[in-house]
Amino acid sequence: MSALSDAALRARLNAHAPYSKFLVGAAIEDDSGTIHTGCNIENATYGLTVCAERIAVFKAMSEGVRRFTRIAIAADTDNLTPPCGACRQILWEFAGDVEITLVNLQGRTETMRLSTLFPRAFDASFI
Ligand code: THU
Repeated sequence: MSALSDAALRARLNAHAPYSKFLVGAAIEDDSGTIHTGCNIENATYGLTVCAERIAVFKAMSEGVRRFTRIAIAADTDNLTPPCGACRQILWEFAGDVEITLVNLQGRTETMRLSTLFPRAFDASFI
């Protein structure tokens, strides 16, 4: 188990998910090797829920980080949980074609690039 996957699994335990009870953790590494974590935080309005991946990215950016290398996403599913569409867009904007590792509680992992999950993305190059 990589340190990044391990950090995502640990961050998952901080999830605030009383509605879905679906706990997600994320850990994103910046270009200096520092790991920034996030977990999903739900709200009674449901729509204001924020995913683990976006929390990790925004926490890091709020500390001044602008370059990312890898992200790990942890959830308790046999079929490894991929990032939602909104998070794919955010990751593309701020982390580019980042390496993504999905991990579950059994330590099973799968690694891919964002471009595999999110082909032909819309971004600043079109504006
Ligand atoms: N969730 C994430 O945090 N990341 C994902 O990639 C998928 C979904 C959260 C949002 C919500 O709190 C719960 O999982 C169920 O959708």
